[in-house]
Amino acid sequence: MMISSLLCNDLCKSFGKKRTKKQVLKDLSFSVAKEEVFGFLGPNGAGKSTTIKIILGFLRPDSGSIEVSGIGAGLGEYRHLIGYLPELPFFYNHLTALETLMMSGKLSGMKQKEVKDSAAHLLERLTLSHATGQKVGGFSKGMKQRLGLANALIHDPPILILDEPMSGLDPLGRYQVKQLIRDLKAEGKTVFFSSHILSDIEELCDRIAIIHTGELLYSGSVVDFVAENQNLEDNFIDIIRQKDEACCVDA
Ligand SMILES: Nc1ncnc2c1ncn2[C@@H]1O[C@H](COP(=O)(O)OP(=O)(O)OP(=O)(O)O)[C@@H](O)[C@H]1O
Ligand SMILES: [Mg+2]
Repeated sequence: MMISSLLCNDLCKSFGKKRTKKQVLKDLSFSVAKEEVFGFLGPNGAGKSTTIKIILGFLRPDSGSIEVSGIGAGLGEYRHLIGYLPELPFFYNHLTALETLMMSGKLSGMKQKEVKDSAAHLLERLTLSHATGQKVGGFSKGMKQRLGLANALIHDPPILILDEPMSGLDPLGRYQVKQLIRDLKAEGKTVFFSSHILSDIEELCDRIAIIHTGELLYSGSVVDFVAENQNLEDNFIDIIRQKDEACCVDA
């Protein structure tokens, strides 16, 4: 039996009121198994970041529920189980990289020594050691993305939820983050990440979910999705087109 790290059950979410109301998630259900790398795919505006914000408890669904390691949203240790990289990480420009990580670690309840060791290790792992004492305001986009990843990992959580972790990274950075995701899996972590880079998804993921206009189109293994002599990109484009055509016929 599959042990779930993350369960989304029948999530519905809309934004706006009355005439401007727009339903962006429609009965979205999927589950992520413990210790797997799970890719979350969908075109721009599909609802990926909205789903992730609901999982983190930053947005409330209209209906449906979330469970993380069997714990319902908002209960007990829920947030401590998750390391989160937002789509657009926010930092205080006047803090250094080390101060940023120290602050996050302390907010997660870590002790001074523990957080200091973890920060030094992560700055090294994300190739940011040279910028330890540098103010984040002067960081490049890629450096901020690396710091965002370090931030997500600071409290050594069992589940990582990463919204476009490869975004803004140079080829070396992308390579390093892919290796990091592999290492996290080898350490027994569960990694759930969204991405538009289908080759990365194909390389890294055990299973995927594909959503479009808030609806689940596929959830299952990458191997099952990618038929013989085809690749993830072809099948992804096909499934999105089929959905768009079906919508045109229905309309
Ligand atoms: N706060 C909000 N208010 C109104 N509409 C919103 C809000 N947040 C998201 N939306 C809408 O919800 C839909 C899904 O957005 P979301 O950011 O979840 O997509 P996404 O799959 O993450 O896209 P991308 O790949 O571009 O990051 C979009 O139509 C977006 O305009
Ligand atoms: Mg998004």
